[in-house]
Amino acid sequence: MEMADRTMGLQALLFISILSLTSVIGQVSYSIPEEMSKGSVIGNIAQDLGLDRKRLTSGKGRIFTGDSAEYIELDRERGVLLIKEKIDREALCGQTTPCALHFQVILENPMELYAVAVEITDINDNTPIFEKSEMKFKISESAVIGAKFLLERAIDPDVGINSLQSYFLTKTDNFVLKLKDQPDGEKIVEMVLQKSLDRERQEEIFLVLTAMDGGEPNLSGTAQIHVTVLDANDNAPVFTKTVYKATIPEDAPKGTVITRVSASDADKGSNSKITYSISNTAADVRHMFEINELNGDLISKSNIDYEKARFYQIHVQASDEGGLTDSCKITVEVIDINDNKPVINIMSQTNIIPEDSKPATVVTMVNVQDLDSGENGKVHCAINDHIPVTLKPTSNNFFNLVTDSDLDRETASEYNITVKCSDEGVPSLSSSVTLTLQISDVNDNAPVFERSSYEAYIVENNTPGLSIFTVKARDADWNQNARVSYILEDSSVNGVPVSSYVSVSADSGVIHAVRSFDYEQIKDFHFRVKAQDGGSPPLSSNVTVKVMIQDQNDNPPQVLYPVQTGGSLVAEMVPRSADVGYLVTKVVAVDVDSGQNAWLSYKLQKATDRALFEVGLQNGEIRTIRQVTDKDAVKQRLTVIVEDNGQPSRSATVIVNVAVADSFPEVLSEFTDFTQDKEYNDNLTFYLVLALAVVSFLFITCLVVIISVKIYRWRQSRVMYHSNLPVIPYYPPRYSDTLGTGTLQHVYNYEVCRTTDSRKSDCKFGIAGSQNVLIMDPSSTGTMQRIQSEKSILDEPDSPLEVGYLTHHYLHTSPRYSYNDFLDHRYYLPP
Ligand SMILES: *[C@@H]1O[C@H](CO)[C@@H](O)[C@H](O)[C@H]1NC(C)=O
Ligand SMILES: *[C@@H]1O[C@H](CO)[C@@H](O)[C@H](O)[C@H]1NC(C)=O
Repeated sequence: MEMADRTMGLQALLFISILSLTSVIGQVSYSIPEEMSKGSVIGNIAQDLGLDRKRLTSGKGRIFTGDSAEYIELDRERGVLLIKEKIDREALCGQTTPCALHFQVILENPMELYAVAVEITDINDNTPIFEKSEMKFKISESAVIGAKFLLERAIDPDVGINSLQSYFLTKTDNFVLKLKDQPDGEKIVEMVLQKSLDRERQEEIFLVLTAMDGGEPNLSGTAQIHVTVLDANDNAPVFTKTVYKATIPEDAPKGTVITRVSASDADKGSNSKITYSISNTAADVRHMFEINELNGDLISKSNIDYEKARFYQIHVQASDEGGLTDSCKITVEVIDINDNKPVINIMSQTNIIPEDSKPATVVTMVNVQDLDSGENGKVHCAINDHIPVTLKPTSNNFFNLVTDSDLDRETASEYNITVKCSDEGVPSLSSSVTLTLQISDVNDNAPVFERSSYEAYIVENNTPGLSIFTVKARDADWNQNARVSYILEDSSVNGVPVSSYVSVSADSGVIHAVRSFDYEQIKDFHFRVKAQDGGSPPLSSNVTVKVMIQDQNDNPPQVLYPVQTGGSLVAEMVPRSADVGYLVTKVVAVDVDSGQNAWLSYKLQKATDRALFEVGLQNGEIRTIRQVTDKDAVKQRLTVIVEDNGQPSRSATVIVNVAVADSFPEVLSEFTDFTQDKEYNDNLTFYLVLALAVVSFLFITCLVVIISVKIYRWRQSRVMYHSNLPVIPYYPPRYSDTLGTGTLQHVYNYEVCRTTDSRKSDCKFGIAGSQNVLIMDPSSTGTMQRIQSEKSILDEPDSPLEVGYLTHHYLHTSPRYSYNDFLDHRYYLPP
């Protein structure tokens, strides 16, 4: 149908042109559209030329085109021109208009020539075409507005209205299309930037350029435009935050990453490469932190100390390579860690306090500090237990060490006070200080003897100066307060000052015998020794010492009966009629020693006739052991030995005269020889009486002298004599037995060894009965000094006694017995 419509149009056109041809040149013109299909009728040439159809056939009508291609053929039979080859106007004429084919129709017989022109009219058979279907552009985003980009043109071979008429671009904000007419009528197509590109927003822009012709219907062709937006450093880095907050514990080691800042740059490539740096920050802070310039890590560069700074501000700058920057601030808060021990300061200290210090005495002042804050800086202090000291807070962080009970150096002479302070951190830190508090001594302890009383034994006849015994007292105090001196307390034994018996060494407590003791005179005595310390005031205690004197076998048995006298001869009478066992007599002996030493035994040592008498071993009885005969001599002489049981034993012998007779005259005649030495006995008696007279005279003389001296002294001492001196006038006891033989049975004989110069050792023997002075051992200096200070004695002009050593020999004592006890056994022989 469409094809038919078009053919109708062409025929109308042909009619007009035939009219014109016919009228002007007589030639035929046709107008046909291009692209008619093969065999299509162009026109009825025969008719148009006014020829008979037979003429064409007979005239062998043909078409002459010269060299040109034959697009058209002649149908002689029908008298029409037909399309032989499809005609493409564009191929035939290009852009030339009008486009016509000129040929001749030649007839023979007669030869005739007709010119025919066939104009080929354009149809819109070509679409506009771009040579390249894609156009690529690389445009910097920094390109300025108005920049032009030449686009490729499209080509449409059609002509006229069918040719390219217009271009269109996909709608975009950035670009507009601009067509520019060239002088040759061509059009230049340009793309003009009307709005800045932003790579960051759109990196690639795809556009479509459409070229359109004016045909009916119109045809169009398209081309892709690919715009790549090139980056420009048009974006500064931007931090994700303007302020970063971070914390770091103060014990974080160097190199700890505290936080990371981050900036981003919308640009690309090097324009987005960011480096971080610290800027605008104080130098000391810069020393502490560094920033990783690539990744923005904030790193501690040195040790952080909360106690120095609790807060840091660091400004960080981020720069891209194009030099654009941004900055941010990091606030670093330092977290306190319990890294500081409490510090204990001793502000004032007493190292030594006396033991009598009152409770609540302040010993030490302490201050405690902890540099940490909060709980980490809260400090508690305590001291060790079991000491008499407490910790007393005075004010904030100040403490006093105060005694809280009585002190006793003897219990504990020093205390180690450990003050320990801990904070409340977790874990808690603590520190401690040990103070030594010494307790100084006060004389609060008296010396104490090791025993509550002492008993000492000494064998009689000791040498004077012999150490008997040692007392010992201890004093719990210290040094001078514990230095014990021993002092003999004044007392008297049997009316005699005890200092004449014993002395005590002040330093050592050794008790010395001052004299030689005689058990037979004194068996025991006691005295008190005082121990006194060196404190001020001194303290003392005393103890009783009992000295027991032990017996020694120092006395031989003493025969009391029969009495051995030189003056008269005593004999026992035995009647010749005496039976066996007749008790002749009894030897009576005593021994002043005691115990075994006084246990006596009797033995017959010698006898005129041993067979006649025996002596009772225990009782000393002399008895006959056989019948007395007339042959037995009248005069019998027995020697009896009395022995004691001591070790070694001592003995005495006694001669017992026995007269074996029945009458007294018989005895007398026999005993004449007994009296042969009567003259000697008379002499002896005379000497004894003389001696007694002399001694009595001296005694009385001495007595007078002593009494007068005494009276004189007594007067003097009323003024100056106050102390009880160890210098004692001593009167030896003296016993005279008027009942006995008249001799002095008990004599103390003193040897006073006086020296005027201690280097001389000559001794002058004081006469018996003179005033003797007993002086304590001068080595006991305390006593000695007292003696020397006693001027009243030593400076006596009429008392030329000097300090010296005195020894006395205790010669002999024996108790008195009454002879009347034995009178019934006694026979006195006439002289
Ligand atoms: C006190 O400490 C010192 C020294 O460590 C020590 O020698 C002494 O025995 C201690 N004293 C007491 C009573 O613990
Ligand atoms: C001896 O000690 C007792 C207590 O032990 C005391 O009563 C007495 O007074 C003391 N004697 C002297 C002389 O100090």
